[in-house]
Amino acid sequence: MIADTPGLMEAVRNRFAHVETCPFEGPRIFFENAGGALRLKSVIDTSATFAGYPDNQGRANPASQALMDTIARGKADMALFFNAPGGQCFVGESGTEILFRMIRTAALGAADGGQMLGSTLEHPASASAMARWAEVTGRPHRRVVHDDATGTVDVAAYRAALTPDTRVATIVHTSPVTGMAVDVEAIAAAIRQVAPECFIIVDGIQHASHGAVDVAAIGADGYALSPYKMFSRHGYGVGWASDRLTACPKEQIANGPAANWEMGTRDAGAYATFSDVVDYLDWLGAQFTESTDRRARLEAAGRAIRAHEERLIRAMLHGLDNLPGLAQMDGVQLIGGDAVEGREGVVSLRLAGMPSADLVEHLREQGIRVHIRKNDHYCSNILGPLGLEDCIRVSVCHYNTEDEVRRFLSAMQQAVERAAAAE
Ligand SMILES: Cc1ncc(COP(=O)(O)O)c(C=O)c1O
Repeated sequence: MIADTPGLMEAVRNRFAHVETCPFEGPRIFFENAGGALRLKSVIDTSATFAGYPDNQGRANPASQALMDTIARGKADMALFFNAPGGQCFVGESGTEILFRMIRTAALGAADGGQMLGSTLEHPASASAMARWAEVTGRPHRRVVHDDATGTVDVAAYRAALTPDTRVATIVHTSPVTGMAVDVEAIAAAIRQVAPECFIIVDGIQHASHGAVDVAAIGADGYALSPYKMFSRHGYGVGWASDRLTACPKEQIANGPAANWEMGTRDAGAYATFSDVVDYLDWLGAQFTESTDRRARLEAAGRAIRAHEERLIRAMLHGLDNLPGLAQMDGVQLIGGDAVEGREGVVSLRLAGMPSADLVEHLREQGIRVHIRKNDHYCSNILGPLGLEDCIRVSVCHYNTEDEVRRFLSAMQQAVERAAAAE
């Protein structure tokens, strides 16, 4: 456990910037990780260094060679992170753009006809891409309905909607609103059984900072990440595409390398900062395994992160010391139930008698940063069926501590009392 290894939590927190203090507002607890995780200090240094290089790739000089080596190393680190069985790792504009591009490529590359299949749990990035390219290619876009009570979608729901002519399927690995993970391996296996040729694209954007990624085990064709949600920075998204998805016709410079997914000149700094993330996870994993194998260390880091976050989430939901958890607080409504198992970093909730915007403000005054989620184009898929206009989202990562959860629970208890007094 991270917190049980002497000095390790301090060493972890020391690797990140702005852990305890917002540069704009002062001391605060950062529980807005699902909106963007804390940045590694190494990422900040690397970004500045690469921003300063004027050289371009593909020239016969040492600076150019260094940039190309950085990109090659970044791609190798991405492949390690994904546990990619071949295929291509690449950067794009954002997670949304990566999802749109892979879904578009799959929809246009698949055999004519058939259906496109996703779920109502998905973030609108993949759901909108599926809707658009289903319409353009003249296919129905079917959406399996998630379970409001558990905040997830299961294999049985997908199975009921599967047909042998399912051409493209999308699966969200973890919901960024309910925080609940999906059994992607089981769903992908069910899809392969019924529609072996289907292109399966996974949105791993909320999952990636909370446990290891293994596209080989999933058997997917595409997997998307947002580096700013996994300790890197804004400005790029990362994708992995299988060889068969890569073989589909893609937008590219005519007569350029056919396997290339990147469009135009790449930012070598983006690749370098992804390597910083992998180096960090490698270091963290090495605290928990003797193995010298980097993939084994990434997996060990994933297990350590999961175990620590489970402890935080359990405390948040079910109490810590003499403080009641959210599940015991009067007037608190949890979105997607109170399960600890399967929850990846997120608890969304409402408090009766206090508008969500006021609750965000109350927590801000107590030095705790969280975010409101509204029944809008981003979250209506989750909040709409529950008949809710908004909620607040509290999101943690492995560098958060039980003490921070304790302070959050105290602040929530005050909010509960204020809401009750106002009634
Ligand atoms: C699950 C999920 N998918 C997609 C996105 C969109 O990612 P990006 O902001 O990189 O476009 C998000 C962002 O919140 C997300 O949580």
